[in-house]
Amino acid sequence: MYNELLEKKKKIAVIGLGYVGLPIALEFAKQFKVIGFDINEERVKMMRNGEDPSKELDASAFYGTDIEFTADPEVLRTANFFVVAVPTDIDKHKVPNLTPLLKASETVGRAIKKGDYVVYESTVYPGCTEEDCIPIVEEVSGLKMVDDFSVGYSPERINPGDKVRTLTTILKIVSGDTEESLKEISKVYGKIITAGIYEAASIKVAEAAKVIENTQRDLNISLMNELSIIFDRMGIDTKEVLEAAGTKWNFLKFYPGLVGGHCIGVDPYYLMHKAKKLGIDPQVIAAGRRINDAMPAFVSKRLAQMLISNGKNPSNCKVLVKGLTFKENVADIRNSKVVDLVRELMDYSINVHITDYWASPNEVAHEYNLTLVENISDDYDAVIVAVAHDEYKVHDAGFYKGIMKDDPILMDLKGIYPNMDGVKIWRL
Ligand SMILES: NC(=O)c1ccc[n+]([C@@H]2O[C@H](COP(=O)([O-])OP(=O)(O)OC[C@H]3O[C@@H](n4cnc5c(N)ncnc54)[C@H](O)[C@@H]3O)[C@@H](O)[C@H]2O)c1
Repeated sequence: MYNELLEKKKKIAVIGLGYVGLPIALEFAKQFKVIGFDINEERVKMMRNGEDPSKELDASAFYGTDIEFTADPEVLRTANFFVVAVPTDIDKHKVPNLTPLLKASETVGRAIKKGDYVVYESTVYPGCTEEDCIPIVEEVSGLKMVDDFSVGYSPERINPGDKVRTLTTILKIVSGDTEESLKEISKVYGKIITAGIYEAASIKVAEAAKVIENTQRDLNISLMNELSIIFDRMGIDTKEVLEAAGTKWNFLKFYPGLVGGHCIGVDPYYLMHKAKKLGIDPQVIAAGRRINDAMPAFVSKRLAQMLISNGKNPSNCKVLVKGLTFKENVADIRNSKVVDLVRELMDYSINVHITDYWASPNEVAHEYNLTLVENISDDYDAVIVAVAHDEYKVHDAGFYKGIMKDDPILMDLKGIYPNMDGVKIWRL
């Protein structure tokens, strides 16, 4: 497979061109012939014009690539190495939503031929590729894994907004259904990943490795969040505690905060789902999720208490929330926990103004029915800096005094500011 791909006798098809799929498709297309397939025609049109709909890559990423963007599944019949990178989110009951993955497996099933490969990149629970996806590919194609086609799983580790650790500079895990397919898949990815390839022992091991990377992070942050609730009650600054404890060589550097986005706050539910199916009640993972999901309510309660202790009625107060995206320096607003915080504040009848340096006002209105203010006022009772965008780090005491009235409260959720004269700073 590898040599034929290299000689461009065969083609790679990437299915699902989002944050993960587009960078991998373009990187492959510098070495191989590639079909970039997505069901969203609008996005396909933008990519044909050299524009990344997810706004992570600039136009130069499209230069010198041998790629055909399409929304027509028929075109996929000419491909031989399928890479699936569709979303794996959760539904409102926090249960994995496998629909895009199963639909993409049907698409692969209709296009796959004897001797072809399919590699899944979407984050899933261990067993999902072989137990949920491949049976669909087999049923639709009438072919059998191992005998007729090969299967792999290679999780993606990119970190949105990170311009240093990018696709090619992050060590990539690959796995395969046989020793031979593992070697071929390894060579294909090895051609584009300069950081190197790690060959996992099996598809399930690779799936489990990815899901625990984010579960571990979620749990560590939840511990910091729980500590910050305890220390807040005691009047101790968690940031100062973590700085002191961090002087020990083996103290892990995690910080409290709102855990949103489509990875850290979602992936643990995939592992929990699998555990429950196996009759195991995953208590530690679930506790971490509960704590992280409860942080918006905790922050809003603390603000209401502080306003009241300043003699103010929350329902007469105006609060500015700075940052709505799910993390710093990105435009992505999906699964933002700041939205939960805004709604909690509104439940106290607080007049909430929201601003975000990166988010698109149209997307915020469309996704959440919320309006970003065009101009911030100068009479806020409190400001919550919810996201650590670089653009907010330069704001100082003078700036905050200028936009707040008596007894100014600055809630610095990410701990980006030093103490300020004349402004009460509250941190998680
Ligand atoms: N975004 C990240 O930083 C990141 C990092 C590591 C892993 N992941 C994982 O990678 C996977 C993809 O995530 P993403 O953030 O790239 O998603 P995304 O929402 O950015 O993009 C998904 C794309 O897939 C398309 N799509 C949906 N269903 C399809 C189908 N049936 N056929 C073809 N195209 C389809 C959508 O139109 C969209 O363009 C998920 O499993 C995610 O957990 C994401």
